[in-house]
Amino acid sequence: LVAGEQGFGQGAGVPAAAGGSAPLTILFGSESGNAEGLADRVKDSASAEGFKCKVVDMADAKLADLAKAENLLVLVSTWGEGEPPSRASDFYDAIMAEKAVKLDGVNFSVLGLGDSSYTQFNQMAKEFDKRLEELGGTRIYDRVECDVEFEAPYSGWANGAIAKLKEIAKPAAGAATIAFPSGPAVAAPMAPAYSKSNPFQAEMLTSINLNGTGSAKETIHAEISLEGSGLTYEPGDALGVIPENADDLVEEFLEAAKLKARENVSFKDDLSVPFGEVLRKHLDLRTINTVILKKYAKACDHKDLLKMAEDRDAVKDWAWGRDIVDLVKEYPSSLRAGDWVSLLRPLSPRLYSIASAISAHPNEVHLTVGAVRYEAFGRKKKGVCSTFIADSWKEGTKAGIYFHSNKNFKLPADPSTPIIMVGPGTGIAPFRAFVEERAATGAKGENWLFFGDQRYTYDFLYQTEWQDYLKKGVLTKLDLAFSRDQPEKIYVQDRMRENGAELWEWLDKGAYFYVCGDASRMAKDVNQALIDIVQEHGKKSEEDAIAYVKQMTKERRYGRDVY
Ligand code: 2AM
Repeated sequence: LVAGEQGFGQGAGVPAAAGGSAPLTILFGSESGNAEGLADRVKDSASAEGFKCKVVDMADAKLADLAKAENLLVLVSTWGEGEPPSRASDFYDAIMAEKAVKLDGVNFSVLGLGDSSYTQFNQMAKEFDKRLEELGGTRIYDRVECDVEFEAPYSGWANGAIAKLKEIAKPAAGAATIAFPSGPAVAAPMAPAYSKSNPFQAEMLTSINLNGTGSAKETIHAEISLEGSGLTYEPGDALGVIPENADDLVEEFLEAAKLKARENVSFKDDLSVPFGEVLRKHLDLRTINTVILKKYAKACDHKDLLKMAEDRDAVKDWAWGRDIVDLVKEYPSSLRAGDWVSLLRPLSPRLYSIASAISAHPNEVHLTVGAVRYEAFGRKKKGVCSTFIADSWKEGTKAGIYFHSNKNFKLPADPSTPIIMVGPGTGIAPFRAFVEERAATGAKGENWLFFGDQRYTYDFLYQTEWQDYLKKGVLTKLDLAFSRDQPEKIYVQDRMRENGAELWEWLDKGAYFYVCGDASRMAKDVNQALIDIVQEHGKKSEEDAIAYVKQMTKERRYGRDVY
């Protein structure tokens, strides 16, 4: 969608289609693309029901046009600690401002995407829902908040809200009767062929540790076969992997909870499944949050624990480094297997930025995965999915995968546009995909990579590939920051600053800028370095430099894939 071309409702000055359909605006705010993907699916469903749909990205949305929307469905995700998706932040500020806009006569409903392991769960959905009503809108269907797993709540919401809109939608002034196709309930939205709930079983072809012996890190390069799937992907997309819990973790849990793996429990539609299998495949044995703690404390009547469970910050502190096994050990209970099945969160898949271009590796997808291992509270702990990939998904064996498209992290449409990539550690993954794609397609644009990790000798991921690309001229510039090879830390943002004048030249001639990797510190520091460079070398005020970088985000010229 192009900013400026975008309107709501029936569009500027165009009367509602006579004898046709009721207008429906589907407004989304998306960070990783989930809300956006679902917005497209709402459109398919609602169009099939006779609505004239318009999908609008909050990044392009104008408040003044909002009032023209007669029917409005909002899909919004919550990012970090209760923040709007980055590209939606201007729209968020505008709608929350005091004299926003009058929405009398606008029918609306809100769907939220979030993750309850964060404190401000679905904060954006709550705020938008409240605000749309304050501004005069009519809530025609209650807000639904998804927690990680969004397929089922999404379908419930979309079906319910569309059915309700169909019931009440009136022909716009001057329009004849609305011809809704008659029929039973609202058609279920089409789900993609392979998905989280219907993954493709893919074979591991090659799995190697990229770090040299002696490294503090363990980074797995995995090559996975797509043979027979018909699946494809674009550089910048992510791969969902369905993990299983490690056997030793399941055993530790069973021992602590004094339960048996062979005992049968009912799980979903299956009335009799061995508890051990449910634990291994379906339950999250790591996550402790307020919801789980409250339920657990009530179920086993631990007064102190219940008191702590009321305090989000206390729970966050306590849960740090602990897992469900620690919980049972410290607060023993006599919960039965079936109780655990309803108490624990479902084991969710993890998304990894894809490290390959299919044009360079037909029928394959590659990942760069940092294996997470540490010790806490007297026990060895492992990242569920990263160590599933490193330890259990052996060459020749299969595991469930699906693709996740990320529209905000794509190569420029014009192959001659220069790109700047900042990807320390496993953040290198999507840039291997980008450069492979540009090499395979003969794209003429210049490519500049910033990579960093702890030590040159052990941690220079894909070293020979980068050196080869440099030699061939595919990679125009390569700047490296090995943080622990000298007494003082050197990071990628330091290299950016050293190259500030040239970096500004690239930006000024239209380069796209991408960052991938750690969100909590690295991406913030890189963002600040970017603003400082624009200010200093672009000779702007601080305010203008911030506005410049914001505009890059809006134009999808500043891609962020951070976690
Ligand atoms: P460190 O572990 O020596 O602190 C990939 O993990 C690389 O990112 C490592 O070299 C790591 O350095 C570095 N890193 C850590 N914090 C960072 C930050 N705030 N900004 C940029 N890089 C960082």
